[in-house]
Amino acid sequence: MKINKKLLLVSTLCAGILVITQSFTLKDHDDKATNLKVLPKNTSEEDLHNIMRGYSKALGVRCNYCHVSQEVPGQQHPKFDFAADDKPEKNVARDMMRMVDAINAKYIDKIQTNGHAWEQITCVTCHNGKATPIVSTDSLMKKQ
Ligand code: HEC
Ligand code: HEC
Repeated sequence: MKINKKLLLVSTLCAGILVITQSFTLKDHDDKATNLKVLPKNTSEEDLHNIMRGYSKALGVRCNYCHVSQEVPGQQHPKFDFAADDKPEKNVARDMMRMVDAINAKYIDKIQTNGHAWEQITCVTCHNGKATPIVSTDSLMKKQ
C-alpha cells in the first residue's frame, strides 16, 4: 500500500513536470499568425509560408514589399513584423486575395469546356512576375 502511494506521488509529479515543460516549449515556438483577416485563422505555419512564397514569386518581390522590416546593425537579416499592417501594399494584397476568390467562385469554377473544369486563377495569372501588371495596351505603349 505504502509503495503504491509513493509510486502514485512520483508519477503525478512526473506528469506535472511534463505538462509544465511542454507548455513552455509550446510558448517558445508560438509563431502562430495573429492578424489574419482573409486567410482562415487556423492556417498552419507551413501553409502560410508556402502561400507567402507564392505571392513573392508571382509579383517578383521579396517579403519586405508588403511587410515592415528593420535593419538590425551587425545582423545579416532584417527584423520583420509580419502582423503589422503599416504597409499599404499589404492591404492592397488583401483586396487582391478577395478579388481572386470572387473571380474563381463566381466565374472560373462555373465554366466547363467539354466537361473539363478550369484551373483556378492565382496572383501570377495577372502579375506574371511583376508588382504592377500591364493593365491596358495604352500603358503598354507608355512603357516602351
Ligand atoms: C504581396 C504582398 C505580400 C508579400 C510579398 C508577402 N506577404 Fe506575408 N502577408 C500578406 C498579407 C496580405 C497577409 C495577411 C493575410 C490575411 O489577412 O489573411 C500576410 C501575412 C503574413 C504572416 C502572418 C502574420 C500574422 O501574424 O498575422 C506571415 C508570417 C507572413 N505574411 C510572412 C511572409 C513572408 C515570410 C513573406 C516572404 C516570403 C511574405 N509574407 C510575403 C502579404 C504579403
Ligand atoms: C485580375 C488580375 C489580377 C490578379 C489575379 C491579381 N492582381 Fe494584383 N494587381 C492587378 C492590377 C491591375 C494592379 C494595379 C496595377 C497598377 O497599379 O496599375 C494590381 C496591383 C497589386 C498590388 C499593388 C502594387 C502597387 O504598386 O501598389 C499588389 C500588392 C497586388 N496587386 C497583389 C496581388 C496579389 C497578392 C494577388 C493574388 C492574391 C494579386 N495581386 C492578383 C491585377 C491583378
